[in-house]
Amino acid sequence: MLYLLDTANLEAIKKAYNFYPMDGVTTNPTIISKEKRDFLEILKNIREIIGVESMLHVQAVSTNAEKMVEEALYLNKVIGGNLYIKIPVTKEGIKAMKILQSKGIKITATAIFTAQQALMAAMAGAEFVAPYVNRIDNISGNGVGVVDEIVQLFELYGLDAKVLAASFKNVQQVHCVSLTGAQSVTVNPEIMDKILEHPLTDWSVDQFITDWESVYGVEKTTLDVK
Ligand code: G3P
Repeated sequence: MLYLLDTANLEAIKKAYNFYPMDGVTTNPTIISKEKRDFLEILKNIREIIGVESMLHVQAVSTNAEKMVEEALYLNKVIGGNLYIKIPVTKEGIKAMKILQSKGIKITATAIFTAQQALMAAMAGAEFVAPYVNRIDNISGNGVGVVDEIVQLFELYGLDAKVLAASFKNVQQVHCVSLTGAQSVTVNPEIMDKILEHPLTDWSVDQFITDWESVYGVEKTTLDVK
């Protein structure tokens, strides 16, 4: 499982990269807008934090294929590193993907709500496809079910494209998606923390420390009593 963080907040990215096995950062125009500062500066700052090898997914905002391609080439040049250009699965987007693939630009197909959209994006050259799990659930669909179908289709057709499941509102959605064999998830910083949290884990750790300290002394570690 690859873990990506769905945010442009620098403090949240630093924290996640400090503690967790992170593989990348995803942004979209909404996420970037929340930071209310220079677009390129934000992305360059993220690159500095995560390094050149970690994945950074950045979305083109044009709505026609030629402009999307132009944006993708520009972003690839100015941001650099392991960069993926997110392109929505519109008709123009699919056209842009075909062109970008021929130019060797790495593509993440985004705003995916059906398995057929994901299949076409993969055929057009997307390396990752991003189904929006919670947004699908919110229209009385089955977000995890769509992810599962995409995983099956990619296997059936022997495609190398990977699922980057996105739009999560709770840990159970992440868990169910991981059972489908989806290769990666992008989650917000709160959910990244919650994946790990369990009150009985904390209770157990407290109990271990209490028992240890009752015999070996307060704040003594295995290093102090050898
Ligand atoms: O990466 C896509 C994601 O940002 C959409 O998530 O929470 O806005 O549905 P959300």
